[in-house]
Amino acid sequence: MTKMLEAKGLTKVYHMGAEQVHALRGVSFTVESREYIAIMGPSGSGKSTLLHIVGCLDRPTSGELAIEDRDVRKATDNELAEIRNRKIGFVFQTFNLLPKATALENVELPLIYAGVRRRERRERAAAVLERVGLADRMGHRPSELSGGQRQRVAIARAIVTEPAFILADEPTGSLDTATGAQILDLFAELNSEGNTILLITHDEAVAARAQRVIRLLDGRIVSDTGGSEVRA
Ligand SMILES: Nc1ncnc2c1ncn2[C@@H]1O[C@H](COP(=O)(O)OP(=O)(O)O)[C@@H](O)[C@H]1O
Ligand SMILES: [Mg+2]
Repeated sequence: MTKMLEAKGLTKVYHMGAEQVHALRGVSFTVESREYIAIMGPSGSGKSTLLHIVGCLDRPTSGELAIEDRDVRKATDNELAEIRNRKIGFVFQTFNLLPKATALENVELPLIYAGVRRRERRERAAAVLERVGLADRMGHRPSELSGGQRQRVAIARAIVTEPAFILADEPTGSLDTATGAQILDLFAELNSEGNTILLITHDEAVAARAQRVIRLLDGRIVSDTGGSEVRA
């Protein structure tokens, strides 16, 4: 197995005026390629902060982080953006789609950043929308789609660049159970095709579909059912 990610002693301190918020207090874990991991923990325990750091959307205050053996601490902002664009796909609870753009245009966006030409962009965006079951909704704007359809557009946008690593922050959190289950089927399928998945959830039933569960409390890992380092 190859290593997708290695985090050692990650901390994150937010400064709020004179106050400091210790969102992460020394988080260490390793993710092997093709793992499917759920991150759980109460609200405020640092889950989103951890996902943003691991996804190179934010930097840790201290600690070490490598993505596919590349030390990202030393990367410039441009290099971080490139790692993000090439290796990582993000899915958020509230979808984060452009409201005025069609499904097709939303999915094309990461390919514009990646410098892919218009014709290839169209073809690739259409192909992933088809794959998530939205072939007949490509010209619809987000407001003309259901919650589950919007999340499928967001997943299509996350996978159109063919990233190996998919990160999702409560992707079923604003969906009903049946629609959420369809989204989870899609993640399971992506995982079985070789994608590595790290997914935040509040829901034990969602976590049960992952191979490994990491629990956070107050910025620390309090349990981890897998991985190379076994914790109490
Ligand atoms: N941008 C920010 N500025 C200041 N404090 C923040 C910021 N983001 C998160 N926090 C704080 O960091 C802690 C962890 O937040 P977060 O990672 O969002 O937790 P979770 O996703 O588990 O609910 C919380 O106390 C939160 O208030
Ligand atoms: Mg959160």
